[in-house]
Amino acid sequence: MKHLLSIEELDRAAIERIVSQAERFSEVSDREIKTVPALRNRMVLNLFYEASTRTRGSFELAAKRLSADVVNFTASGSSVEKGESLKDTVLTLSAHKPDAIVLRTPWAGAAALVSQWCAAAIVNAGDGKHEHPTQALLDVYTLRRRLGAIDGASIWIVGDVAHSRVARSDVLAFQKMGARVTLAGPPTLIPREIEALGCEVRYTLDELPSADVVYALRMQNERMEETWVPSVREYAAWYQINAQRLRPEQILMHPGPVNRGVELSGEVADSPQAIITAQVEAGVVVRMAVLYELLAPNRTGLEPGPVPAEGRTPESGTDDLAPAGARGAGVGEGQPA
Ligand code: NCD
Repeated sequence: MKHLLSIEELDRAAIERIVSQAERFSEVSDREIKTVPALRNRMVLNLFYEASTRTRGSFELAAKRLSADVVNFTASGSSVEKGESLKDTVLTLSAHKPDAIVLRTPWAGAAALVSQWCAAAIVNAGDGKHEHPTQALLDVYTLRRRLGAIDGASIWIVGDVAHSRVARSDVLAFQKMGARVTLAGPPTLIPREIEALGCEVRYTLDELPSADVVYALRMQNERMEETWVPSVREYAAWYQINAQRLRPEQILMHPGPVNRGVELSGEVADSPQAIITAQVEAGVVVRMAVLYELLAPNRTGLEPGPVPAEGRTPESGTDDLAPAGARGAGVGEGQPA
């Protein structure tokens, strides 16, 4: 795998490989020394043209846990404000020779374009309404840990599907993992012919009790040029996931940020049924697994644990997942703050 641009291009085996690698990294995260030397001397550039709390923070932490150097670049405060184009920005930053660029933009297809302009591995961290593949991978990871297997589960994704890259990536990923997906929301917020993806569509929550998992979405106001629902109050009356609508056995998910009182009531957001914090926690290990998949030298694929690194003799130690610093002076030390 050279880039991670979309879930569309991954098959079930690739999703399972990344999720299983994330599970191995979660064991590393339970250790006292959480950093491993796998991506020592590699550079990860976070290039964010849109707001982000969870995604950018977890990519940064993931890269640091793998001992990579990390450079964060946000469009605000940069030459983008002086009119520099995406292409010129990417070419300029490519002069630093990043090994991976983690890219979030408001433009659908931008990640695929950037992958043609530079040598770095591109990770799509959200391209407009199109896809958000690492969110879907961490959702699969979280759900698999909770349910054991996703096969046969009924997952309802409720809310503003039309403007959501998370919905698109999740429908594809959950279905590839064997789930049955239903999209529900007001007709104005469910794209026409979305059933072509293989999911079902409902415009009311009458059948919500049949779901094993309820995945709520935020109203993506920043991508709306007009009003798509009569009022937030009316939307909440019809589609809010609250204690009256959620059965006690159902699992509740949300990609964040949550608008309490709109798509979720505070009560269900804080209930033990909500696994929203587990989703955020999964973000680090899943993004570690993605960076590892794309960048680890001589990665042998599915195997856990020891991976030989470039230029190392067998007797010099080959455990990329050993704690950084455990194999002699300087290894994995000197992390950027
Ligand atoms: C989502 C995004 O930005 O696509 N958030 C996230 O990455 N966790 C969803 C959202 O903004 O509603």
